[in-house]
Amino acid sequence: MPFYKSDTKIKIQFTLNGKDINAETDTRTLLSDFLRHSLGETGTHVGCEHGICGACTVMLNNDPIRSCLMFASQLNNHEITTVEGIANDTSLDDLRIAFKKHHALQCGFCTSGFLVTIASFLKTNPKNVDEISIREMLSGNICRCTGYVGIVNAVKEVMENRNNNNDKDQINA
Ligand code: FES
Ligand code: FES
Repeated sequence: MPFYKSDTKIKIQFTLNGKDINAETDTRTLLSDFLRHSLGETGTHVGCEHGICGACTVMLNNDPIRSCLMFASQLNNHEITTVEGIANDTSLDDLRIAFKKHHALQCGFCTSGFLVTIASFLKTNPKNVDEISIREMLSGNICRCTGYVGIVNAVKEVMENRNNNNDKDQINA
């Protein structure tokens, strides 16, 4: 493995929210800082900066990760999706409506991290998920305002509606 000094600049090529990005970063810049300060993607929030709170969650090739635990210099040939990348995804309209209906956010600081985690989970087309599994899926994201009930209920409603619609589609097929 090559030895890099901390001020070494590295060229990186990756995809951010579907767009090809060619950029330069030093070896020690965290992905969370790179997204916010170099690319202006400030929807990704930074709380603890050591992998606990989940506020900085983004998708790396569709899996949720903490962007404060990855260096920007590791991005080569990867696909990153931030909350900005799912903002206009109409397949998540039901999630946005459910968040509003169940008051699943208050100050909103944690919300982008939660939405990215949940969006990634929904991409796997989960079936018959019970509340314990929903809470487990959300357990990497901390919210200091809501008490989680609204967030869990929002996910539950989305899951139930999606499963019911799938059942109806199968009956009508
Ligand atoms: S800021 Fe990354 S987990 Fe808290
Ligand atoms: S809504 Fe305030 S931290 Fe979650």
